[in-house]
Amino acid sequence: MTLANRNLVTIDDLSNGEIEALFSLADEMANSPKEQSELCQGKIMASLFFEPSTRTRLSFETAMLRLGGRVISAVDIGATSLAKGESIADMAKVVGSYADIIVIRHPWEGAARVVADYAGIPVINAGDGSHEHPTQTLCDLYTIRKERKAIKGLRIALWGDLKHGRTVHSLIYALARFGATILFCPGPGLDMPEHVLRRLSTEYKGELKKCKNLNQKPERTLFPIDAIYLTPSSPHQLAMLPDISIQVELKAGVDALYVTRLQKERQTPVVKEQELKKGYPVVDKKLLKGKEFRKALVMHPLPRVDELTYEMDTDPRSMYFKQAAYGLPVRMALLALLLGAKEVTIPEKEDSFARKIDYPVYKRESGVRCLNPNCVSNQETEVRYIKPEFKIVSRQPLILRCIYCDHELHPQYVASSEWHQGKLENKKYHSADSHFARKIKPENLIVFASEKEAQARQFKPSSYTKR
Ligand code: NCD
Repeated sequence: MTLANRNLVTIDDLSNGEIEALFSLADEMANSPKEQSELCQGKIMASLFFEPSTRTRLSFETAMLRLGGRVISAVDIGATSLAKGESIADMAKVVGSYADIIVIRHPWEGAARVVADYAGIPVINAGDGSHEHPTQTLCDLYTIRKERKAIKGLRIALWGDLKHGRTVHSLIYALARFGATILFCPGPGLDMPEHVLRRLSTEYKGELKKCKNLNQKPERTLFPIDAIYLTPSSPHQLAMLPDISIQVELKAGVDALYVTRLQKERQTPVVKEQELKKGYPVVDKKLLKGKEFRKALVMHPLPRVDELTYEMDTDPRSMYFKQAAYGLPVRMALLALLLGAKEVTIPEKEDSFARKIDYPVYKRESGVRCLNPNCVSNQETEVRYIKPEFKIVSRQPLILRCIYCDHELHPQYVASSEWHQGKLENKKYHSADSHFARKIKPENLIVFASEKEAQARQFKPSSYTKR
């Protein structure tokens, strides 16, 4: 099977079988690096890194050179025409006419999706704001698989800035799909965003439990755990006794502890660094003496700052430099596949813990916009051509998910384009939670950010509007 011309914008762009096949190819690349040196001869990779990077950029560029290809690069927005107000769609079209593949890192969430929509060549997301970083996830999974063979059934703790860290966002979807149990250990106020948790609990077959709500933070543990995601493969016939099942999971220890740094550049509103560091969990030898970490792989996407002490570097459980080194064979395999220089065999029946859901789409010329100020669809240079687009992920309550950044909208007022039939006097808006509103077909749905907006667009309240 060929993966030629595919994009990797989100980790969900690759199925479990495709990821496994990519890992087998990465093994091949690592075992016989010399034999790969002509695979991508004549191909050019555009390396566009508009945020700081060491590992991701240099491993991608090395990977392309090791495959016999060449690299063109731009690493400073200020030195490109984006600084003159050019849109990223125009940039994508232009770069797409020079190169054979684009690797992009950009501070706006959803930027890689836009580049993929316009470039006409394969695009790899090397990190878009706080959103996703799928190739880091490939390195992480590859490391876990190398050390522990299978991912299914493992208990993985995610630690630190779960709110802004894009690596953990891509990682949890992959871990859930592969059947791991996930423990959430956020720094204070840095919990996994609600939209990520909702997706986890609706689109995968496991079960999410919030420890805070259950008022059961285990006292004796050093773990600042606040939620747990149990897969169907977890031994939780105890599900009816959630307190016990969580205690059982904790006692069993963790197979990997995935540490992340405080993303100080992404905090909104800007908070003093000292304030933020207060209470940020630090992983050191003392913590890792705990029984629950006896067999734990200590992982980190790097760079580290203060959250993981240097004394850990000589500990055999520490994996972070291996993770970075695996970036080379993994990215070589990815480039070779997307450039069509290699093909893979995918098992016919794939083992996945994801549910396939085809959500209806909400897209209108005017009206609601994504509420995330960092979403690509809200940027001055991009609003000229990007039409906000959402997936309708729930009708009760009504929830729309931005297709660019995954942030959610919870509109309170809606109308139907069918029922008012263009007649002004029939233009009525309703409360989104009324039974009447729920009957509106997705293709006829009109949503309003507020009553004011509904009225500004000449809609009048119906008897199904709560005032
Ligand atoms: C991460 C990133 O850029 O998101 N680094 C990386 O690519 N390995 C993690 C981080 O910056 O904290």
